[in-house]
Amino acid sequence: MCGIVGAIQRDAGVVQTLLEGLRLLEYRGYDSAGVAVLDAGAIAIRRKAGRLERLELALTDGALSAARAGIGHTRWATHGPPSDENAHPHTDAEGRVALVHNGIVENWAELRAELEASGVRFASDTDTEVLAHLVGREVARGSSLFDAVRASLARVRGYYAIAALSLEEQGARLVCARSGPPLAVAAGPDGVYLASDVLALIAHTRDVVFLEDGDVAELELGRAPRVTRIDGTPVERPARRVEWDPEAAGKGSFPHFMLKEIHEQPDVLARTAFDRLRLESGDVDFGVPGFSDAELRAIDRVQVVACGTALHAGWIARYLIEGLARVPVDVDYASEFRYREPVLSASTLALAISQSGETADTLAALRLARSLGARTTAICNVLGSTLVREAQATILTQAGPEIGVASTKAFVAQCVAAYLFAVRLGRARGVLSLQQGRELVSDLRLLRPQMESLLGERAVSEVRAIARQNQSQRGFLFLGRGINYPIALEGALKLKEISYVHAEGYPAGEMKHGPIALIDPEMSILVVASRGPLAEKVRSNLEQVRARGGHVIVIGSDEESIAKSDEHVRVPVCSEWLSPILNVIPLQLVAYHMADLKGLDIDKPRNLAKSVTVE
Ligand code: G6P
Repeated sequence: MCGIVGAIQRDAGVVQTLLEGLRLLEYRGYDSAGVAVLDAGAIAIRRKAGRLERLELALTDGALSAARAGIGHTRWATHGPPSDENAHPHTDAEGRVALVHNGIVENWAELRAELEASGVRFASDTDTEVLAHLVGREVARGSSLFDAVRASLARVRGYYAIAALSLEEQGARLVCARSGPPLAVAAGPDGVYLASDVLALIAHTRDVVFLEDGDVAELELGRAPRVTRIDGTPVERPARRVEWDPEAAGKGSFPHFMLKEIHEQPDVLARTAFDRLRLESGDVDFGVPGFSDAELRAIDRVQVVACGTALHAGWIARYLIEGLARVPVDVDYASEFRYREPVLSASTLALAISQSGETADTLAALRLARSLGARTTAICNVLGSTLVREAQATILTQAGPEIGVASTKAFVAQCVAAYLFAVRLGRARGVLSLQQGRELVSDLRLLRPQMESLLGERAVSEVRAIARQNQSQRGFLFLGRGINYPIALEGALKLKEISYVHAEGYPAGEMKHGPIALIDPEMSILVVASRGPLAEKVRSNLEQVRARGGHVIVIGSDEESIAKSDEHVRVPVCSEWLSPILNVIPLQLVAYHMADLKGLDIDKPRNLAKSVTVE
């Protein structure tokens, strides 16, 4: 994972610019951080194991405050434990170049052995240092940094986004390259910049160039980035305007990004759906190619691939697409799909769901599906991401930047997108009548105030009381049925991600086949119980829990279930198809408050990273 940044600016203070960029990229990894800047004719490096604050502290002496060009890195360790020595940037032995890297150099052991045999001594355990020595060697032979990077990358197998700085160029140029992980570059009025995520660029300019795999870019003040392929062939990469508001990258008055993002969900629904709804025709218009009647009628099967929270949205998509459009749907962990020799055809639609659009397994699954002849569509939150560029069609979710590592608003946006897609598919195939289409479309409009009510003070204090009451429990079982079964999975995932307690999501009807053995008073059972065709079934599952002394917490709109519970959060009544979007909100808040009561680092849970760009 890792995040990289770089800048050359007209004025002094590049260290501050790099730190601000790294702060926004910390979600990508946060076990160490570092910067390298050109200062008084030398490359100065500061790097520290631990959170970014430790690096900031090491820079408070102001010694590098005159620097105008530099690169920075925030790390999620792959080769070598988090330590000062393994933190990036890395340099060659003579300190001619400094380099930061996101990804993996697969043939690093072989290259390292070759370099060691020629007398190079390594100062870290990282694969990145190999790159620094390779580039340094080329520069020592008289190559420009640009040519040195290209020549070195030609020898590398793997997966990388890198940025490099060279003493010979005196900070007048930065060079960066990508093959796999994301990288964008931009030229603004006060400087030129590079970053793993546009989030770190939009404070400087909204016009951004997304590099493609195999691109190498050279940045120089006062001109547009020069981009070529690794072999030097020039390519045109026009800048694209990013509409994200730089404010959205801040926490506002909220103590954590996760809480802010949970509270943004009603707006996310509106942004993702409302412009696309056609009340009159009871339909959805995505305004982009790939969703015409003819194209959708050609589909006879959908194969969802995704990871983590996005996979749970994929499960919900299955219920929606099968229920509303009557097309069979398979759902797979992308990491499993890519190795299971799936059978697909030209009439299969592979639907990849991803917040970042950069998850390595999801991308590999999409590529595999395409190579097997399937059509590909993405539900994704990031314009310009690899997934969006590679899929044949995209439904862009409008969640805005999601910073909290535990995904919340992106999930809701994915569920909304899946609902829109299912309605469009159902209408295109003639499975949904005009009247049904109209009802489905207007149901979505009713959801926003209901979401807001779940974020009001009363609902939130109910949730906080539940979190307090249950924080010392030994374990948690989340139960749901039908379209709310994935919500049980998602509730359990949120709790384990940020509260570090064992939590399991289960289909309520399956509980009797195993998990029931776990039930005792130290186990809390959260039951998602909405009014609807399965309410009665859920009630009997709930009775089975109560009969064994389990502590029952009901989240939902089914009053009879609520009456049988020890604790509850009442959720407004809505259509069954949309109930997951309401039910997930109290579950997100339970996880949040439990972690908060325990004093845990909610936005940066241990061992996790937001965007998993390695396999
Ligand atoms: C990581 C994150 C999860 C996320 C998953 C998929 O595991 O910690 O929150 O759901 O990746 O990410 P994507 O960007 O593909 O949705």
